[in-house]
Amino acid sequence: MVTQLAARGWVRFGPDPAVLRWVEAALPLARAALHNSLEPLRCGGTWDVGLDLLPNDAAGTVGGVALTGAAATAAGAQFGRLPLHRAQLSVVHPGYPQPSTSESETAFRFRLNRDAAHIDGLLAVGPDKRRMIREPHAYILGLPLTATDAGASPPVIWEGSHRIMARAFRIALADHAEADWPNVDVTEAYHAARREVFQTCRRVVAHASPGEAVLIHRLALHGISPWRDGAVAPPDGRIIAYFRPELPGGIRAWLANDCAEGGL
Ligand SMILES: [Fe+2]
Repeated sequence: MVTQLAARGWVRFGPDPAVLRWVEAALPLARAALHNSLEPLRCGGTWDVGLDLLPNDAAGTVGGVALTGAAATAAGAQFGRLPLHRAQLSVVHPGYPQPSTSESETAFRFRLNRDAAHIDGLLAVGPDKRRMIREPHAYILGLPLTATDAGASPPVIWEGSHRIMARAFRIALADHAEADWPNVDVTEAYHAARREVFQTCRRVVAHASPGEAVLIHRLALHGISPWRDGAVAPPDGRIIAYFRPELPGGIRAWLANDCAEGGL
């Protein structure tokens, strides 16, 4: 599974009773946290970003149930079991995405036609929104909490894109001292790499059900697919809990050799 992550940039884990027990413990707490959240919905009321909402502990335990199973083991295989933040609860509702006043027409089109494809941890800095590597994560682990149709805005991943991104960022940082890496403007390199990904990588739709898991490589281009007309989900929507712990080794570890040409 670790080799698959390095080779393709993502892995889906099939039904696991241990993960399902975790989901059953997490879901009522997730619903309560979402109910009490004051964060406004985005995309015309169709997306709740839900950052840091699930009341899990640093090991991932929630409601007294530990986070175990093959997906959690694989997530910790490269950098060890890192302390976890409260999981993001990404909630999508029918009709996603809708235009909104907080998003430009261009950004909305990109969300609709390109799944708002992005790399986590590249923040838009300053008034000119220049991209800088400010939050290097170890991985992205998605754990669906609700059962939905396949068209209910599952995540999408561009297979193999982590290699293209790794190469682009290595080149962009090569002439800078490591201490300056968080302040290097990688906007052009990122956009060029993203164009190459769209032209050369397969877009994979990674629908999964409660008890399953999707592990995404930290450098893989990914996004959220639009809600397909008629796709059915529970009234509280498509809910996926996401863990993406920060890497203690910073940007150097983020660009580590597991995504070099040829894999591990
Ligand atoms: Fe993301």
